[in-house]
Amino acid sequence: MEQVKYLLNHENISFTAINDSIKVTNPATKEILAYVKKSDETSLTDIIKNANLAFKSWSVALASFRSDILMKWYELVIQNRANLARLMTLEQGKSLNEASGEIAYAASFIKWFAAQTLRNDGDILTSVKKDEKLLVVKQPIGVCAAITPWNFPAAMITRKAAPALGAGCAMIVKPASQTPLSAYALASLAYAAGIPKDLFVIISGDAGMISTAFADSKIIRKISFTGSTEVGIKIYEKSAKTIKKLSLELGGNAPFIVFDDADLDKAVDGVMASKFRNSGQTCVCANRIYAQSGIYDEFCAKLNIAIKSLKLGNGLENGVNQGPLIDENALKKVEEHINDALKKGAKCLSGGKRSSLGGTFFEPTLLSDATKDMLVAREETFGPLCPVFKFKSDDEVIEAANDTDFGLASYIFTNDPKRQWKVSESLEYGMVGVNTGLISNEVAPFGGVKFSGLGREGSRYGMDEYTEQKYICLNL
Ligand code: SIN
Repeated sequence: MEQVKYLLNHENISFTAINDSIKVTNPATKEILAYVKKSDETSLTDIIKNANLAFKSWSVALASFRSDILMKWYELVIQNRANLARLMTLEQGKSLNEASGEIAYAASFIKWFAAQTLRNDGDILTSVKKDEKLLVVKQPIGVCAAITPWNFPAAMITRKAAPALGAGCAMIVKPASQTPLSAYALASLAYAAGIPKDLFVIISGDAGMISTAFADSKIIRKISFTGSTEVGIKIYEKSAKTIKKLSLELGGNAPFIVFDDADLDKAVDGVMASKFRNSGQTCVCANRIYAQSGIYDEFCAKLNIAIKSLKLGNGLENGVNQGPLIDENALKKVEEHINDALKKGAKCLSGGKRSSLGGTFFEPTLLSDATKDMLVAREETFGPLCPVFKFKSDDEVIEAANDTDFGLASYIFTNDPKRQWKVSESLEYGMVGVNTGLISNEVAPFGGVKFSGLGREGSRYGMDEYTEQKYICLNL
């Protein structure tokens, strides 16, 4: 902790106990890392008012000025990558290697949107009358708020804040109470880069109170939330009163389909990359693995070998690639899904139980003979559990894959180009990976359909979420 303290030079962070604060603990060791002051309703009102004042001057600054500052922030994040990664492993538990990957991923959004800030262009439309010009200009929405999750403590902040700040908005972020330190560290680098303190603010405290204050505020014009569908629905309902613009990146139940003609080694690598990223704690993790009957046994055998090679432990230790789960509830959910599946006929090929390391460590688990009546078919596990279902035909697997309320990520492995196209088009999902288990990057639009949410993040579409289009009819 000592070597990362300089990143946490913020009035809200204390390393000695303070009353009524959020205690941040290391999920691998249970050691207390820091205490974070909570915001109350009065301070929140002031923060929102000040953000609005800061927005007024930031929004009229030249785009190149905002872009340069974002680029400076990017450079500082990259320069501090090793310590930001260390801080993330300490508070979140993911391996140092993965945390370092997340810092690069987080930084990529800042760089991408710094460039996009320079070309957030409007349009000139073809006139319908002589002597009239029809223009569309893009303007920043205003003060925005983000509520971000614990599974990606840095990237989910920059994916929202960078386009908002680039477009000219102010951004108030409420990070998850389990992982606020990465957020404060990113903010101190943002301030060092020249982003005004009132324009980009990190707040902590009671999630219900804060989301209600965001939703009720007429000053806040947009909320971007990443988290569960259950909470997303509540934010949607609360925001109706103020007709708030929303981006909701919610739960998934990703199908991962392996056809008989697939390259099985590549498919196994794909499952490992998708399912075991962050120990199964991502919204785009493969949740249901469908293997076609001709390769089912061979695929399960190969996958089993790969799963047995994973190394569980404290993310700071060399060679560890699987950390602890975030808390006891996460562990209970994995156990519930495994017990339910075993009762209904699944076979356990690897893992299946809490690790002898104790705490919230859970063994990477492979179940074969999964069927659609099991909980794992309907609910997102959010943990290191791989259930493999068997299917015969394309139509059967497309129907099974779409038989869920969710529609975020999906994956298919096949070497047949016709099948690649047909199945990709038939899947009711916002994103499809073909012969890959890793689809997220700053260039592509990330988001889902159905109960997986609204809006897109990253990419050139991501900045539109923070702008309003104003039509100007100019009679000359
Ligand atoms: C998430 O799980 O919420 C985000 C995953 C990603 O950006 O790839």
